[in-house]
Amino acid sequence: MPVGSQSAGEAGRFAALTEALGILYGGDYNPEQWDPATWREDARLMREAGVNLVTVGVFSWARYEPRPGVRDFDWLDEVLDLLHAHDVAVDLATPTASPPAWLGRRFPETLPVDADGVRLVAGSRNHFSPASRIYREHALAITTDLVDRYADHPAVRMWHVGNEFGQVCYGEESAREFRRWLVERYGTIERLNDAWGTAFWSQHYADWDEILPPRRMPYHVNPTQSLDFRRYSSDLMRELFREQLDVIRARDAVRPVTTNFMGFFPLVDYWSWADDLDVVADDAYPDPGDPHSPADAALTQDLMRSLGQGRPWVLMEQAAGAVSWREHNLPKSPERSRLESLQAVARGADGVCFFQWRAARAGAERFHSAMLPHAGPDTRVHEGVRRLGADLRLLRPVVGTTVPARVAILFDWESWWAAHELARPTVRLDTLAQLRAWYRPLWETGVAVDVVRPGSDLAAYDVVLVPQTYLLDEHAAERLTEAAARGASVVVGPFTGVADTDAQVRTGRFPVLLTGLLGVSGEEWVPLPDDGVTLALDPRWGSGVDVVDARATTFAEALRADGAAVLARFAGGHLDGLPAITRTTAGAGRCWYVGTVPTGPVLERVLDDALRAGGVGPALAVAAEVPGLEVVRRGPALFLLNHTGVELDVPVPSAATDLLTGSEVSGGRVRVPATGAVVLIEDG
Ligand code: GLA
Repeated sequence: MPVGSQSAGEAGRFAALTEALGILYGGDYNPEQWDPATWREDARLMREAGVNLVTVGVFSWARYEPRPGVRDFDWLDEVLDLLHAHDVAVDLATPTASPPAWLGRRFPETLPVDADGVRLVAGSRNHFSPASRIYREHALAITTDLVDRYADHPAVRMWHVGNEFGQVCYGEESAREFRRWLVERYGTIERLNDAWGTAFWSQHYADWDEILPPRRMPYHVNPTQSLDFRRYSSDLMRELFREQLDVIRARDAVRPVTTNFMGFFPLVDYWSWADDLDVVADDAYPDPGDPHSPADAALTQDLMRSLGQGRPWVLMEQAAGAVSWREHNLPKSPERSRLESLQAVARGADGVCFFQWRAARAGAERFHSAMLPHAGPDTRVHEGVRRLGADLRLLRPVVGTTVPARVAILFDWESWWAAHELARPTVRLDTLAQLRAWYRPLWETGVAVDVVRPGSDLAAYDVVLVPQTYLLDEHAAERLTEAAARGASVVVGPFTGVADTDAQVRTGRFPVLLTGLLGVSGEEWVPLPDDGVTLALDPRWGSGVDVVDARATTFAEALRADGAAVLARFAGGHLDGLPAITRTTAGAGRCWYVGTVPTGPVLERVLDDALRAGGVGPALAVAAEVPGLEVVRRGPALFLLNHTGVELDVPVPSAATDLLTGSEVSGGRVRVPATGAVVLIEDG
């Protein structure tokens, strides 16, 4: 089968697995680090903890192929048989993320080269160039043998390709591949010159061979070269994934295949990958020290659910306690670990797994937490793991169900990449920070949100939020216009629609493709002083907003209302008296433009306005009044997640049963334990 010839991943393959096992529960298991007596203890403890799936073999290549061409799989036979005998299913990984040391020694060109021209060496992991033909041949050879040997093994229920694709190489072979990619994209060198704007700084290319990856240069890199290198690198990694997927599919048409994503990971455009997966999988390590992490984690989970566009997703990796790769690694309590796991289920996950099952004794991750800590099963962490296993069994009724959302928030990697060139009005206007800031008020009020790629069909949404989409093409602009025309609320944030898909600035009053829709237009980008600028709110609109903190921060735009009503103006400074926030009607809908980064209460006012106009409410009205209470409706269940350290007493509309405790909730109130959760199924 040729590379990339897969039909789209099929949700049915994964559904068959969860129908058999319920919510998947387990973690990465690295038996190559342990002796057979420990394997036996592991299998027993896994079963006792309710583990039903482990990911095996992610880093086993050197063990499978200790010398070139040699194969040693006997030990894996024993591990898989043992796990199967204990009813633990296996998500078998292709071991391609970490080649054996001999590969780089024999073929130095398989090793990656960084932007400074330094060739990296073996001794850690990920030491391969995704552009290397030799690496890819070896990766496919070991994958083929592994799949041939285990495709019929009863323990193997899922395939896991590689690990956290995210490798970038600036070396010679990568340069050749990059040129090939560019030829395919542009066809002629003159088209490339136009797209890259090479009339600037004498960058014109007469020949494809003159083009290099954006290696270390004396001064700023050409922004379109940099954007294309990111696009190419993401496509190249997808090719690697697809090659291995093809090997698996040639042998096994039935079992689901996945690879683990990393949330808002900057080096891979997951929108372009998700169709190839039977189930989206994510690795998530929210920082317990970050007060925003519950909301930010929810956004990432909504992204994972949205990427699959109806396909399921699983939380493939998380920490049971602390990670070991931050400078100062705050642990999670077992309660928090449980709550974060239940949060993922609330937001659509059909699997909750950890990195890793047993804490390593040696190696770079020996201080990373695990489901089974160094101190053994008689620990708080492991007790928590057992409790979670029992909880997840009780949540079986939500498996395969969805989280209905009527709000779309736009995000795409290409815009993020393009907006983050070094030379821009300010580095302080951050695409991801904007996205998170707009998402948080919705999270706090319990409004469900899908993350949507610009240009997608918006017919299902009554509210469409565009916090910052720097690259906007005609099609995506048209989708926004259509949404407003049929009655949706559309809210657009600053520095949107600035550039075309070649990352070239669109000339004219901005946002060029949206000024007609928004009834407002701009002419100047204005980074703000550190203390921001006061916003004067129209009293009819601003009532109820804490005017003391009505400020524009970070960045603003010089706007002119061309028909839109002005809801807030800048008061003082360079933009004194000019509009900052506007609203207009468009077709049956309404559009807001937010030409700055307003302080929280002002942004909340805008979003609240848009939700009301769109007729969208929270999953439970009271959520907004109880800080730290997250409310999500998934299928038949209403999840109440308490992110505070105190018990919350929450009014609920009808009699219900808590799936986690089996207790009846009547009398219109339910107590949600501190750092705990209640999962209600309404009676009747
Ligand atoms: C990632 C990797 C794992 C491990 C964990 C540690 O998710 O996939 O192999 O390194 O990080 O947090």
